[in-house]
Amino acid sequence: MESLKDKIDLQRLPSHIAVIMDGNGRWAKEKGQDRLFGHYHGVESVRDIVEGCAELGIEYLTLYAFSTENWDRPDDEVSGLMELLVETIKKEVETLNKNNIRLHVIGDMDMMPDYAKAELNEALADTQSNTGLNLIMALSYSSRWELIEAVKKIAKDVESGKLQPQSIDHKIFQSYLCTSGFPDPELMIRTSGEYRISNFLLYQLAYTELYFTNVLWPDFRKENLYEAILDFQRRERRFGKTSSQIQQELPANDQKVL
Ligand code: IPE
Ligand code: IPE
Ligand code: MG
Repeated sequence: MESLKDKIDLQRLPSHIAVIMDGNGRWAKEKGQDRLFGHYHGVESVRDIVEGCAELGIEYLTLYAFSTENWDRPDDEVSGLMELLVETIKKEVETLNKNNIRLHVIGDMDMMPDYAKAELNEALADTQSNTGLNLIMALSYSSRWELIEAVKKIAKDVESGKLQPQSIDHKIFQSYLCTSGFPDPELMIRTSGEYRISNFLLYQLAYTELYFTNVLWPDFRKENLYEAILDFQRRERRFGKTSSQIQQELPANDQKVL
């Protein structure tokens, strides 16, 4: 069977893919199991998608694993998720190194339990010299938290005279976000048929192509990823310009018949 992978134009890959991994709870419920069962199976999808992105040569993959708002879930779900996180990271570091994958974390680490923080820091250090895929885990992350933190840091630097208010532009603002150093995502995928952003990368998604699928996260596999990338490659990204302007900017062999 020909895989969708063969249809992907490797010259036009998104360099950064972001994913809202949603639907673990509903997947478990469909099977008459508790929510944690869904989260455990969600890890299989994480493995498959990370591998899929690394194989394709994607440079950045951001996975939304736990939001600031998710701390308000029932205690047993929150502690189960934290344990799963620590266990998974411990198990996967070796594979990350084998595949030259560098781990990054974005989010409010002060909210994380100490044992999880320690495990994460170790994994960050252990993978820091890898030069392949950058795997960015959004943990205890929310975009409003990130933006407010950025504003606080900017205010401090203005107060201390390190930063001139009139010099603040997109580039400077971006350098205060926890995603500084990463390009904006070109493709954002959300699973489970929910059509919302749920406090994820609000600033960075300004011109990202959004892709929504009904597939629940524990069922999401490489073929679903390829489908999303193919859909992305069929789109025309205009960034506010007109279609003919965009066509003129494209290399001749890339021009579509208008
Ligand atoms: C996504 O699945 C994982 C996390 C938010 C941690 P959910 O747990 O939100 O699953 P649903 O949306 O309730 O099905
Ligand atoms: C978004 O999913 C957060 C993560 C996937 C980590 P949620 O399930 O928390 O989002 P809402 O509540 O449906 O918007
Ligand atoms: Mg959900």
